[in-house]
Amino acid sequence: MKTSFNPLIYLLILGMFAACTESKKEKQAELEIPNSEPAFDETYRPQYHFTPPKSWMNDPNGMVYLDGEYHLFYQHNPDSNVWGPMHWGHAVSTDMLHWEHLPIALYPDSLGTIFSGSAVIDKGNTSGLGEDGKNPMIAIFTYHHPEKGQTQGIAFSNDKGRTWTKYKNNPVLNNPGIPDFRDPKVSWYDQGNGTGKWIMTLAVKDKISFYSSPNLIDWEHESDFSPSWASYGGVWECPDLFPLTDQEGHEKWVLLVSINPGGPNGGSATQYFTGNFDGGNFTADGKDVKWIDYGADNYAGVTWSDIPKTDGRRLFLGWMSNWLYANIVPTTIWRSAMTLPRKLELYHFEGKDLLASRPVMEVKTLYGNSEKIEAKSHLLRDELFHLDLKTANGNRASIKFSNDLGEEVLLHIEQNKVIFDRSKSGQVKFNEAFQAIHEAPLNGLEINDIDIYSDKSSLEFFFNDGELVLTEILFPNSPLLKLDLEGIENNGEVHYLNSTW
Ligand code: FRU
Repeated sequence: MKTSFNPLIYLLILGMFAACTESKKEKQAELEIPNSEPAFDETYRPQYHFTPPKSWMNDPNGMVYLDGEYHLFYQHNPDSNVWGPMHWGHAVSTDMLHWEHLPIALYPDSLGTIFSGSAVIDKGNTSGLGEDGKNPMIAIFTYHHPEKGQTQGIAFSNDKGRTWTKYKNNPVLNNPGIPDFRDPKVSWYDQGNGTGKWIMTLAVKDKISFYSSPNLIDWEHESDFSPSWASYGGVWECPDLFPLTDQEGHEKWVLLVSINPGGPNGGSATQYFTGNFDGGNFTADGKDVKWIDYGADNYAGVTWSDIPKTDGRRLFLGWMSNWLYANIVPTTIWRSAMTLPRKLELYHFEGKDLLASRPVMEVKTLYGNSEKIEAKSHLLRDELFHLDLKTANGNRASIKFSNDLGEEVLLHIEQNKVIFDRSKSGQVKFNEAFQAIHEAPLNGLEINDIDIYSDKSSLEFFFNDGELVLTEILFPNSPLLKLDLEGIENNGEVHYLNSTW
């Protein structure tokens, strides 16, 4: 089924669930208007994952680095705990873990509400929007308007993203008559001879369109990408395009495309393509549908722009939820978190170029006490941890986290797949799809290492340092601190993590 983004459908679904949920606590969560001040210690409030202080959040937007600061903008409905009129919330960080919350950067105007998009540093002031010879920060975003449709606009900041002005001749890219025409990800394409151009990667219903521009204002259509063998279970959204160098030093291009619904474990998920981009056209290598994450809760993820060459990492962040239930997860006074920041790298396996997502090394700065895991059962002291395990018998292992209430989360590794079960993990009845069992095919991959990052309401599993990833949210009624292991070496370690608040 191919669907257009229709917020009314989400609100309708929300209403239906409000009528049939069972627990009182869950019902309250759905109806809560975020009028209290954040304490950052609320039940389920992540302690080292990004969350908005209060109200609704979805996609990460405008991720750009400038002068030691990682900027994170995000889809935000400041007046409610459910999706609604979109703004761009804003925060900055020096390590992608400790965040300073800043005022809302972009508000809706007569052209529409502010949907997802990106931000760049306009080096050389190609737009002419910089002041005093400085390079402006430019945000490129989608205007969503019920009658005017979806168009692309820009805004600029000459004070490191602290204040924003919308460009006076918005929109810079008009709608060609297609309802789903959104989520511009812009990057500079270096043509190699001292020249270059801006490339906009745009999601257009069920294809990706590439546009180019000399100045971020005048855009020209270059090409479209929609191979017959890709995944088309839903509308294409939030693309990203970037080069990565593999271990042999070859440059490959990666195209991320989020899709809703149609993910491998239901609802929304992110597929990716590897191949070549020549400044106008993207061509994919092979015909494999590949997913960046097999968990249910990593969507609309994109990478930071303008990371200095001396760093050289391709840094990724996703929205840690799923459109199947994002609006009704049992949290107040905020809804949704981002994933851990991850470094994307290419690896080769059985003739294919695949994407590994590895937790950024900055996470280690949160390490507090560590403990050895030497027995099959272990009582963890806290739910904020990084668990570092090795399999004893290859693809035959299981890991269980549980509590005294009989709530549990199970992970099994079998010969050809990984199975994740959160059906008894605590509050699960707010949505039937939330109780589904998730599977990830191994396609011949042998699992040796398992790194698990746990926060108040999430588990992220990185197998073989991110060659396979499962990101999952959960809402236990008390922490799942009893650990039971099968098929795991007795030399594991747990590193407790400090809260970033
Ligand atoms: C993805 C998405 C985007 C859109 C935004 C609206 O989650 O649907 O395509 O710009 O959310 O909030």
